[in-house]
Amino acid sequence: MNNSYVGFEKAKAPVEIIPVDAHTVSRVRNLNSVLFPVRYSAGFYKRLVQPGQFAQVALYQGVCVGTIACRTQPLGFAESMVDGAPQTEMYMMTLGVLAPYRRLGIGKMLLANAVRAAQQDPLARRIVLHVKIDNDDALRFYHRHGFATVRLVENYYKNIEPPHAYLLECRLR
Ligand SMILES: CC(C)(COP(=O)(O)OP(=O)(O)OC[C@H]1O[C@@H](n2cnc3c(N)ncnc32)[C@H](O)[C@@H]1OP(=O)(O)O)[C@@H](O)C(=O)NCCC(=O)NCCS
Repeated sequence: MNNSYVGFEKAKAPVEIIPVDAHTVSRVRNLNSVLFPVRYSAGFYKRLVQPGQFAQVALYQGVCVGTIACRTQPLGFAESMVDGAPQTEMYMMTLGVLAPYRRLGIGKMLLANAVRAAQQDPLARRIVLHVKIDNDDALRFYHRHGFATVRLVENYYKNIEPPHAYLLECRLR
């Protein structure tokens, strides 16, 4: 499978995408609690609003319906936890859209913004993320957009069934 980003069109809904800031971060916390089985720490939300973070929310008629958050880390960190590589990768921590607003192109708009941000970083080589092995919707979404499965990561999640994840990547250059 070709694992470089596959283009995007406009959303099928009038959506405004804005950065996460001190005003919107509590709405992101509420969204994440509905969207993901993982509970994120207070530190996670504190970091979201710090400079250099890539974190956005999608507003549909003023309602917060989607969110994305990524961090930059050393290249290969997602697999080996090796620190200090000069090149980097963007790690996608969260990307989600509330169920009634799915299949309107909101997810791909958020993803496209992250890809664009990563492409602007000359050190960034790829975008990576973990997806739960039974999350067929997300796997189809990412494969549709040029992500390829790198490998199975057994027992990636704690206290979640099944605990296994796939590591996915999209090469940037
Ligand atoms: C994955 C997710 C973010 C996709 O968001 P979305 O806004 O529905 O995606 P889009 O509307 O932008 O989809 C773009 C394309 O991706 C593909 N796609 C998206 N969801 C799909 C699905 N469930 N099945 C098959 N293809 C899908 C389609 O090709 C779609 O285009 P089309 O609707 O014109 O056919 C959404 O399903 C979601 O929030 N899931 C729950 C949270 C989650 O699991 N996040 C990922 C792990 S971090």
